[in-house]
Amino acid sequence: PSHSPHRADPAPLSSSASSCRALSTRRQLYEKPFPVYKQPVEVGSFSLDSERRFFNDARQIRYFVEPPSRPDFNLRDGYKDRFVKRDDSIKEKLDHILRWILANKSKLESRVAAASSSPALGVDVVTWRGHLTKLLTTPYETREGWLLAATLFRGTLYLSEVETEASRRDTENRTERHQEMMYWGYKFEQYLCAEDMKASPDPGGVVNTNEAFCTVVQTKLADHKLLFSGEVDCRDRGTKSPAAPACYIELKTSAEICTPKQRSNFHRFKLLKWWAQSFLPGVPRIVAGFRDPDGLVVGTETIHISQISHLIKNEYNCWKPTVCMNFCSEFLSFVRTVVREDSPRVVHLFSWDPHQDVTYTVHRDSSYCFLPPWYVEGMGS
Ligand code: A3P
Ligand code: MG
Ligand code: MG
Repeated sequence: PSHSPHRADPAPLSSSASSCRALSTRRQLYEKPFPVYKQPVEVGSFSLDSERRFFNDARQIRYFVEPPSRPDFNLRDGYKDRFVKRDDSIKEKLDHILRWILANKSKLESRVAAASSSPALGVDVVTWRGHLTKLLTTPYETREGWLLAATLFRGTLYLSEVETEASRRDTENRTERHQEMMYWGYKFEQYLCAEDMKASPDPGGVVNTNEAFCTVVQTKLADHKLLFSGEVDCRDRGTKSPAAPACYIELKTSAEICTPKQRSNFHRFKLLKWWAQSFLPGVPRIVAGFRDPDGLVVGTETIHISQISHLIKNEYNCWKPTVCMNFCSEFLSFVRTVVREDSPRVVHLFSWDPHQDVTYTVHRDSSYCFLPPWYVEGMGS
């Protein structure tokens, strides 16, 4: 199937005067007041084990252990002999979230207001946090485009990413150095995380990227009720730690900052991605490890998400949180006006490339369909 940027025929029911077939991503259009974004509420969580099996519980949660002031972390350690890498050629789409929804269906449905004519699940959009992160950063992205498949089923819109040709090529052509550096982030997690409340980190253990703990949160962006899931690195283990998601901590690594230019680039590019990823699920802080070119951590720093907008204030022509949120909100409204047919057999494929508008194509009974039969049947069709 081709992802060529030609525009599709309008969807049958969207050919009214108000229908539009493209959405602009120009930043200036989204410089408006910050939209309503309700405090995300954790409605559940799930775990994926060392073999990527799903469990409807928090067995994979890890506990944050404060690093020493002068850490001795070698991120290269274990890459050759203590690393089990997840097979990312297996496209899981929304499957784990759908499994969680089925396992918690009655809990979710009981939250739906009795008299409402709203969707069966009580939410407008179901997706991964990572897909929303890509939407938030789109007005500032100059390198990588995206493809998002959308299906309306029982009044809820499901959004699932499709790999682009360019991304597939990039993955194929990764250098050995790049592949090793992708391990470094997980190794950093191992130095800072313990398996239970009283344990210590085990840097001699195996790093297995199949394992994950995922939070499921509900929130509202403008008039869109969202349900999404995202991986959480660890939680605070203090006795006074707040309820989830406020107790969660995101771990990150980044190159050591030595020059004003490097600091500026960190603010302009890296903090945008870091902010978007953690702001969405309401994770309040990041613990960052700064590494030298040999993978040695030279220092760590806590970054509070609420302080990021202040940190970037001195950068000329910098990214703005309001642009990210308004674009995401308007993209979801755009998808709503385009996708009218409620059917697991229909996919609208939204496509975006840097410096272009968002456009879409329509596909019926195609290989883009991503709601599996067990989910459609489990929802009682
Ligand atoms: P860093 O965050 O330190 O870069 P996350 O930070 O989202 O919890 O992801 C954990 C690690 O997975 C990352 O550590 C990085 O090593 C790797 N990773 C995640 N997304 C990636 C991507 N798109 N490309 C390359 N590596 C990625
Ligand atoms: Mg993570
Ligand atoms: Mg992380």
